[in-house]
Amino acid sequence: MDFSDRVGEYQARVEAAMDRWLPDPDVSPARLHQAMRYAVLGGGKRVRPLLIYATGETLGIPAAQLDSAAAAVEMIHAYSLIHDDLPAMDDDDLRRGRPTCHRAYDEATAILAGDALQALALEVLAADAHLTMVGLLARASGSRGMAGGQALDLDAEGQLLTLEELEAVHALKTGALIVASVLLAADAAADLAPEHRDALARFGTAIGLAFQIRDDILDVEGDTAVLGKQQGADARLAKSTFPALLGLDGAKRRVEEAKADALAALAPFGDDAEPLRWLASYIVDRNH
Ligand code: IPE
Ligand code: IPE
Ligand code: MG
Ligand code: MG
Ligand code: MG
Repeated sequence: MDFSDRVGEYQARVEAAMDRWLPDPDVSPARLHQAMRYAVLGGGKRVRPLLIYATGETLGIPAAQLDSAAAAVEMIHAYSLIHDDLPAMDDDDLRRGRPTCHRAYDEATAILAGDALQALALEVLAADAHLTMVGLLARASGSRGMAGGQALDLDAEGQLLTLEELEAVHALKTGALIVASVLLAADAAADLAPEHRDALARFGTAIGLAFQIRDDILDVEGDTAVLGKQQGADARLAKSTFPALLGLDGAKRRVEEAKADALAALAPFGDDAEPLRWLASYIVDRNH
């Protein structure tokens, strides 16, 4: 049995945990609760929860100790996607093969569903984790993390950034939550050596960059039906992306370099890091 045999089980775990925490769809304000459930449940690859569980396997932490962190990170991610798709941001109509939240409901409900999911994520984590872990996730989500990266991404529309600038945008808008996923699992370990925590942070940084470059590549050469979101959306908005800066071949080379950096960071864990190695390949080879 390798990690691929347990992916479905972990996806079901985090789905069930989020379902337990999300208010019932008939509880007032019902439309808001329905929109939250619509955006969170029944879709998505659950890559961030999988990173948490894979890090947990590497460090010998039982999955049950990681369910709230997995649910919390995925709720922040779902909120980020709701807002990312709004007309004021990327203005997309399709997400996870369905109408985006503001299309299925309305813009005000979608904004509030994102706000409420962010708050619920911190509530979920606070119920079951150290305050330092709550702080870690809050920081990774805010202006020095995901939200800050989204601001830089919007500023960069129509501009040609340097490679260094573009990597900095990607590190914040996507990398921050991916690093936080790995570190939330690391912080659940009782006595992790500081150099092992640093190695996991390096893995997360490198695989987070690979993840967003692959996302940029799929926007160019993916298929809308497989992606579950509109292909070509970045070109329409003249987004700053790796294919725009380096060309498709250059972007693909950069993904492989980032993957190699990620794998090198796992060396201290030996065979125990097999789940994270499997996920690194999944992230780089995926077609949606
Ligand atoms: C899409 O994230 C947005 C980015 C940060 C690139 P995912 O590719 O993880 O989206 P889902 O959750 O699987 O739908
Ligand atoms: C979104 O990046 C990153 C976040 C949601 C924080 P993109 O705008 O590239 O994501 P997609 O391609 O719409 O999923
Ligand atoms: Mg965007
Ligand atoms: Mg987008
Ligand atoms: Mg994209």
